[in-house]
Amino acid sequence: MTGINPAKDKKKAKITPMNTPQTVSETLALKAENLSKTVTSPEGMLTILDQVSLQVSVGERIAITGPSGAGKSTLLGLLAGLDLPTTGKVWLGGNELTALDEDGRAALRANEVGFVFQSFHLIPSLTALENVMLPLELANHAQPRRTAMQALENVGLGERAGHYPRQLSGGEKQRVAIARAYVIQPTVLFADEPTGNLDQQTGESVIDILFRMNREYGTTLVLVSHDLGLAKRCDCIIQMDAGQILTTKVQHAD
Ligand SMILES: Nc1ncnc2c1ncn2[C@@H]1O[C@H](COP(=O)(O)OP(=O)(O)OP(=O)(O)O)[C@@H](O)[C@H]1O
Ligand SMILES: [Mg+2]
Repeated sequence: MTGINPAKDKKKAKITPMNTPQTVSETLALKAENLSKTVTSPEGMLTILDQVSLQVSVGERIAITGPSGAGKSTLLGLLAGLDLPTTGKVWLGGNELTALDEDGRAALRANEVGFVFQSFHLIPSLTALENVMLPLELANHAQPRRTAMQALENVGLGERAGHYPRQLSGGEKQRVAIARAYVIQPTVLFADEPTGNLDQQTGESVIDILFRMNREYGTTLVLVSHDLGLAKRCDCIIQMDAGQILTTKVQHAD
């Protein structure tokens, strides 16, 4: 990525198969152990995530697929520390996320995690540029405006910097959300359907940005997607259904 100085000295990718037994170490970006999530619904208690375990090496690219309602967004939220599991543990790098309080999780997220929500979650009262500047300001970045502008230009939205979210199309909002997630150069970038609202050409340029981050800074990518082209570029495809991991396919990515 041009014009963005690495915030930190990122480790380059070291890919290890998901099933290799391993302790939490500096080669592991993410680890989840027996994650379950139970919610109360009008129909009673509902288990929406059921005993999910996985581990992701630093720099690895993971695609999570599965039908609507399979639990993909729920899993992503737990791995990123946005929500807590009913049972089970999550480690992000050497830190056990599930042992931290809300402030601790927020501090870790601010420095290490980028998240692209399925429904974008842009702040409506801020312009596209201000939305992208926000995580930089929270991280006390030296040049938030310039760096955010460069990130917007990278997703083809330099000319929309002053637009508020209501003045952007769905695909444009998605690209602002992606710029906001990657601008801090997170250790792990989670994206929930990052190409779901985009035409093929824009979708491919967004995927290129994510994979360029991975190549240049070793950013670990955890992507929920139905996009086969995207999944094929990943090191591992996790297939989910009914709150469980059905298969984990390690592959030679493009
Ligand atoms: N807070 C909640 N309370 C009750 N049920 C919930 C809650 N959050 C999620 N669910 C249910 O859990 C299931 C999994 O939801 P989730 O959003 O993780 O699915 P998903 O795989 O991301 O689906 P999609 O592809 O449609 O985005 C769904 O059936 C959903 O209705
Ligand atoms: Mg979802």
